[in-house]
Amino acid sequence: MRRKIVVGNWKMNNTVAESLDLATEIAEKVGTGSLSCEVGIAPSFLALHEVGKVIEWSDIRLTAQNCHYENDGAFTGEVSARMLAASGCSYVILGHSERRQYFGDTNIVVNRKVKKALEEGLKVILCVGETLEEREGGVTESIITGQVVEGLSGVSDISNLVIAYEPVWAIGTGKTASSAQAQEVHASIRATVAGLYGQQASEHLRIQYGGSVKPSNAVELFGMPDIDGGLIGGASLNTADFMAIVLAAC
Ligand code: 13P
Repeated sequence: MRRKIVVGNWKMNNTVAESLDLATEIAEKVGTGSLSCEVGIAPSFLALHEVGKVIEWSDIRLTAQNCHYENDGAFTGEVSARMLAASGCSYVILGHSERRQYFGDTNIVVNRKVKKALEEGLKVILCVGETLEEREGGVTESIITGQVVEGLSGVSDISNLVIAYEPVWAIGTGKTASSAQAQEVHASIRATVAGLYGQQASEHLRIQYGGSVKPSNAVELFGMPDIDGGLIGGASLNTADFMAIVLAAC
């Protein structure tokens, strides 16, 4: 039985003070030992360390939204996996479609980041997803397979990996993939992973869905056989909505 995982990706929202308020509220609700699923929050880099301190007593996993593929050096403006691990992060989100779309994160770059983050002891949430043009062009499966295969090139152990399927057309648009559409892609990702790492590893792999997840659609999405939780954007900025989604998975 896979343990579901729900992570709030706060993206570029909230000052440090606002992040601390939100994190404190969520930590009070999540507490310790009461939920059957895993819960994470991903504040901005600026707030990460301080948020880590206020959630430390709770079961919440501190998550980063990105990292660089080198540990140190002349990379102005970047943050490394080594720094994140030392600041108490458990997870890092890599290959988010916004990183791919606006910041040049190709499959090759994402793969370098994945390898470095795993090497530094972080767990990785590898995001994959097709654009609307790709879906309408009938190439969803080949795009997703390419993102999985290239993103994991040279990775031999996937026990610290989670994959998040986030159709680009469903992110922040209010358009959710139907539970059947999401399930179809999740099953195909699991089949790809089985081909790469074997049946057993693929059955253990958790695959989250992301893209306009709300309290009103979470139960149905998380009820699908290959959907093991969610990566939540907008709805994770509100404690009541986020907790309703968390409870749909727990
Ligand atoms: P929304 O939930 O706002 O659609 O964002 C999804 C997402 O990109 C999470 O990483």
